[in-house]
Amino acid sequence: MKKTFLVILAFVGLVALSCAVTKTTGGDGHSSYKNLKVLPKDITHEQMDSVMHHFTGSLNVKCNFCHVRNEEKKEMDWAADDNKHKLVARQMLTMTNDLNKKYFNLTGSAMNISTPLMVTCFTCHHGSTEPSTNPPKQERPQQRPPQDTTKRNG
Ligand code: HEC
Ligand code: HEC
Repeated sequence: MKKTFLVILAFVGLVALSCAVTKTTGGDGHSSYKNLKVLPKDITHEQMDSVMHHFTGSLNVKCNFCHVRNEEKKEMDWAADDNKHKLVARQMLTMTNDLNKKYFNLTGSAMNISTPLMVTCFTCHHGSTEPSTNPPKQERPQQRPPQDTTKRNG
């Protein structure tokens, strides 16, 4: 049940992502974002929203997994780089873009890709902050006695 939900979530995220990136910047032009190093500087609020929700959905976390709160102003400081998870996420974003570009020939920089991405955060993370690197244990079939190969084709 949970798995199905996550898969749907990822799919929705993916569609949102690919729709968002094909759209051009709205009339008001430049966004107000202050600290973008990988995402395009002219990303719209809508696009940013779908990218960030793709992140939270893929890792099954909330915004504050990567973003810190400014306790003085009593509000989230989205631009701050004080959370190490945000720094990892930025590298992951670069890696994911490179994978799509290099190995799947999906051109376009950062999230500016007009075709659905082949590799997304969800491809590896599947709702976890620590993607598993080993396959689950498989049930082994009952051991069979060694075959007598001399009798083959006889
Ligand atoms: C897995 C980590 C991660 C999660 C979770 C996450 N973000 Fe981000 N966010 C980032 C990274 C990385 C950047 C910077 C991207 C870049 O440098 O191009 C960023 C940038 C932003 C910015 C732009 C800030 C600026 O002015 O530069 C906003 C706004 C933002 N995130 C909002 C959100 C919201 C809202 C959520 C929850 C729905 C969220 N983020 C969840 C990693 C994350
Ligand atoms: C090719 C596989 C792969 C892709 C694609 C991928 N990741 Fe990761 N990610 C990993 C692995 C492996 C780790 C290390 C987990 C560990 O340390 O156990 C990791 C770790 C992280 C961490 C650190 C988690 C922690 O607990 O400190 C963050 C944050 C993260 N990824 C965000 C992202 C985001 C955001 C994307 C999409 C832009 C993404 N990842 C895409 C494989 C991937």
